[in-house]
Amino acid sequence: MNQKDSSNKVISLFNKIEDKNNNCKSNARVISITSGKGGVGKTNIVVNLGFALSRLGKKVLILDADLGLGNLDILLGIAPKYNFSHVITGEKTISDITIEVPGKMKIIPASSGIQELTRLSQEQKIRILTELDLMIDPVDVLLIDTATGISSNVMYFNSAAQEVMVVVSPELTSITDAYALMKLLSNKYSVKHFKLLVNMAKNIQEAQEIFRNLNLVVKKFLDISIQYIGHVSFDENVRKSVKRQKVVSELYPDTRASKCFESMAKKICISRESLLPKGNTNFFWENVLHKKHN
Ligand SMILES: Nc1ncnc2c1ncn2[C@@H]1O[C@H](COP(=O)(O)OP(=O)(O)OP(=O)(O)O)[C@@H](O)[C@H]1O
Ligand SMILES: [Mg+2]
Repeated sequence: MNQKDSSNKVISLFNKIEDKNNNCKSNARVISITSGKGGVGKTNIVVNLGFALSRLGKKVLILDADLGLGNLDILLGIAPKYNFSHVITGEKTISDITIEVPGKMKIIPASSGIQELTRLSQEQKIRILTELDLMIDPVDVLLIDTATGISSNVMYFNSAAQEVMVVVSPELTSITDAYALMKLLSNKYSVKHFKLLVNMAKNIQEAQEIFRNLNLVVKKFLDISIQYIGHVSFDENVRKSVKRQKVVSELYPDTRASKCFESMAKKICISRESLLPKGNTNFFWENVLHKKHN
């Protein structure tokens, strides 16, 4: 091949990539909410942050990607009749299985069936991507409730998402497990930017100190950056709301935790332009469907 042919080939390749990017309809942000240790409040954060973002006028879609006991359904008092496995078999469309919950948020109950995403035929992939495109088109923020820990499923969603929000509680093991999770995501999956949220903090000082200490260790040993996104206070009203299967910000709009979610949602909206890495929702789904589980 002469030089002209090869540069034409490169130009045509770039054109194809650009065409593809320009045809992507949705610009929703894709944020995965994750943690090294279980029970630190991920599911509560997904629901309440989603609710606060909805209040700010954002169209929020939640993906329940916890293959274990994610508890999104319990937390919201819903009983999804269908899930992702019905989409894979072709019995239902994604829109059929999507549920609207308080705050006008929508949930895709994907905990069952989502593991099969990597084993789909080409035809199934195209059908599901087309359905997802339609579903995602009007969405501003897609929040993913991941399972806990370092299973391949968790890695898979975190490495495909644009933004990874790591949740820690003041418990020491939650902080060391968060470090281990970020280390693995960085070394094995090239995820280099993280957001850190401290949940169940006594006060803002405690949360900031946790961030400072973790950030010091990370700077010393890992090649990553962490952005402190804020804290959520320990608040008995969160537990009361869970028992009543309601969103805390709906039941107790003025309680400490609700105020934290409100300011965090605002912060997330502001951080849009400056901190977003490349890619969009279509990129995320394509990543999810085409990546292999490691
Ligand atoms: N800010 C808070 N103040 C008080 N309790 C909280 C707070 N956040 C979460 N909790 C409580 O902590 C428990 C665990 O919360 P949640 O189920 O959201 O955690 P998770 O990280 O999703 O757990 P899992 O790893 O099992 O998915 C729940 O009982 C919840 O009520
Ligand atoms: Mg959970």
